[in-house]
Amino acid sequence: MVYIPTRLAATLLALPLLARGVPLVDRGEGPSSDEATTAVSDDTINANFVRPAQFARIAYCSSDAVEKWDCGEPCQALGMGDVEPLVVGGDGGRIPRFFVAHDKTTQSLVVAHQGTDASNVLSVINDAEFILKDINSTLFPKAGSGVQVHDGFAWTQERTADTVLATVKAGLVSKNVSKVAVTGHSLGAAIATMDALMLKMNLDPSVEISTVVFGLPRGGNSDYANLIDSTLGSSFTFITHKNDPVPTVPPRFIGYQHSSGEVHISQTDAASGNATVTVACPGQENSNCVDGNSLFSISIPDHIGPYFANVSMSGKNCPL
Ligand SMILES: *[C@@H]1O[C@H](CO)[C@@H](O)[C@H](O)[C@H]1NC(C)=O
Ligand SMILES: *[C@@H]1O[C@H](CO)[C@@H](O)[C@H](O)[C@H]1NC(C)=O
Ligand SMILES: *[C@@H]1O[C@H](CO)[C@@H](O)[C@H](O)[C@H]1NC(C)=O
Ligand SMILES: *[C@@H]1O[C@H](CO)[C@@H](O)[C@H](O)[C@H]1NC(C)=O
Repeated sequence: MVYIPTRLAATLLALPLLARGVPLVDRGEGPSSDEATTAVSDDTINANFVRPAQFARIAYCSSDAVEKWDCGEPCQALGMGDVEPLVVGGDGGRIPRFFVAHDKTTQSLVVAHQGTDASNVLSVINDAEFILKDINSTLFPKAGSGVQVHDGFAWTQERTADTVLATVKAGLVSKNVSKVAVTGHSLGAAIATMDALMLKMNLDPSVEISTVVFGLPRGGNSDYANLIDSTLGSSFTFITHKNDPVPTVPPRFIGYQHSSGEVHISQTDAASGNATVTVACPGQENSNCVDGNSLFSISIPDHIGPYFANVSMSGKNCPL
C-alpha cells in the first residue's frame, strides 16, 4: 500500500488529464463538512444496505444469467423465485450491463447498473470524457441552470435512460407497486445516481425512490451535488469503503463535489466479510470520511468490497 496525502493522490489520479493537455482550472472547491459522524447500526445495515448491495453485485453477471434469474450465489443470496427481471440490457462494454426487476420481497422495482472492471476504473473516470458538461434538460427537466455532470457518465447514462424510464413506468402499473430501489457500483453508481434524479423528476411524486450506491466517484459540480441533496435528500446514500480511491476522483479542485449522504465503512471483519465499523457522515465532503484524512492508503481492492454481508462487487461468483 502506498501512503500519500489526499491532495497529492487526487493530483496523481488526474495526471492522465494533464498529459492530454486538459486545462486544470482551479474553479474553487465546494463546502466540506467536519461534523462528527454517527455510528450506523447492524439493524440499519441489514434493513437498508445489504439488499441493494446484493442487487448491485448481480449487475456484474451475464445478461443470460440475469434474464433467467439463475446467477448462482449472487441470485440465491436474495432468495430464489422472489425476483422477476423486466428488462436486462447492456453489452458489458460501451453500455455497462443493467436491469430493471420486480422484487416481490420488498414490493418494489429495482434498477441496477454494472460498474467497470476494477483494474481500469481509474482510467475510465479520468478518461478523455472527464470534462463537465451541462446536464441534459430533456431527461432532467427540473435541474435548472448551472448543473454540470461528468461528460462520460452523462453519455453512458443517456444510452439506457429511455429504456429504464419506460420500463419503470410500465412496471409500476403492471406490478402495482409504488417503490423503486436504485443501485449500482463504481461507474454503475454514477449512472444509478443520475437515474434516481431522472426518475424523481419524471415519475409521480407519490412514487418512493430510494437509492443506495457503492464506490461512487464524484459525478458533477457543486450545483449537481446540491441538486441531489434537494431532489433526493435522505433517500440517497452512497457507501464508501475504507481506502477506496474511486470516491475521491475526479478531484474537487477542478470543480467536482459530492452530495450529502455518505456512509463510510472504516473496518471490516475479513473472515465474515461483514462491516464492523460503519458511520454516517453528515454534510457534503465530510472530512471525517473517505475524503478527509491528510494521509491515507490507496487500495484498489477496497473498491471491490466486501461492502456488507460479504458482498464483493464483481462477476467472480456468477456462472459464465
Ligand atoms: C438528452 O437525452 C435524450 C434521451 O436519451 C437524447 O435523445 C438527447 O439527444 C439528449 N440531449 C442532448 C442535448 O444531449
Ligand atoms: C394494488 O396494491 C394496493 C396496495 O398497495 C391494493 O390496495 C390494491 O388492491 C392493488 N390493486 C390490484 C389491482 O391488485
Ligand atoms: C465471502 O465471499 C468470498 C467470495 O467473494 C468467498 O470466497 C468466501 O468464502 C466468502 N466468505 C464467507 C464467510 O462466506
Ligand atoms: C454477518 O452478517 C450477516 C447478516 O448480514 C449475519 O447473519 C452474520 O451473523 C454476520 N456474521 C458475523 C460473524 O458477524
